[in-house]
Amino acid sequence: MTALLEISGLTLRAGGQALVSDLSLRVEPGARVGLIGESGSGKSLTALAAVGLLPPEIRAEGSVMLDGRQVVGAREETLVELRGRAAAFVFQEPLTALDPLMKVGRQIGEPLARRYRREGRSPGRREIARKVRELLERVSLPDVDRVARAYTFDISGGQRQRVAIAMALACRPRLLIADEPTTALDVTTQSEILDLLSDLVREEGMALLFISHDLPVVARVAEEVTVLRHGAVVEQGPARTVLRDPAHPYTKMLVEAAAAFDRALEPAR
Ligand SMILES: Nc1ncnc2c1ncn2[C@@H]1O[C@H](COP(=O)(O)OP(=O)(O)OP(=O)(O)O)[C@@H](O)[C@H]1O
Ligand SMILES: [Mg+2]
Repeated sequence: MTALLEISGLTLRAGGQALVSDLSLRVEPGARVGLIGESGSGKSLTALAAVGLLPPEIRAEGSVMLDGRQVVGAREETLVELRGRAAAFVFQEPLTALDPLMKVGRQIGEPLARRYRREGRSPGRREIARKVRELLERVSLPDVDRVARAYTFDISGGQRQRVAIAMALACRPRLLIADEPTTALDVTTQSEILDLLSDLVREEGMALLFISHDLPVVARVAEEVTVLRHGAVVEQGPARTVLRDPAHPYTKMLVEAAAAFDRALEPAR
């Protein structure tokens, strides 16, 4: 099968320093892939490189094929066209993606209208408003009419992340990249958002590249995992195999730390 995202031998440098070294990663259409690693291991840079959003001071070598197009060295026009259609992003802190001065309904309506134009359709305002409400319902927001008219500071953190997910869905991407989408949320909300993401990618047939430093979180959503340390891949494979029987000492340490945390939460007997 042709991969939706195929990263081969990716090296990212700032100045003389390699931040990511010789990384390879495949995401097949419809697959759910997790990227795990401690803070600073290069997860976000890898995700940004996948859609050509690296800051200008970072140089990429190697190959990133997204939906059949080369991203490394691509012109901005090519990238703009690819983003949205091929891949959409959900970030750790939804406020970075949302505009505080624009009502929620419009923030989802704009990418939606762009997608319709791309598909050669020109729906009226009513049709857009109806679709926006549908998307807000799709991410299980309550009282969608109120949310559509609200500004982002009028809704809770968990609701904002749902809005950010609805914005990503509005693009109807083939790949959803979620970079620590639940780190800023409390445990209950985190769990709900994880379930939502898992259900959505399955039902919409999207692929998911899910990024987290938190192993149990990744294990909940991903079928395959790549473990990153100091910018290099240390282990890669089916999530079950890697998490049950880790081969690399670093992965073993992550698995053991997660197990110890679970034990600490068990009630004393
Ligand atoms: N613009 C930049 N210029 C120089 N170095 C950078 C730049 N952006 C990131 N880095 C460095 O690259 C490394 C990888 O950063 P990255 O943001 O990808 O880590 P991460 O795995 O996403 O970490 P976290 O879990 O904290 O989000 C870090 O050491 C970081 O300091
Ligand atoms: Mg990061």
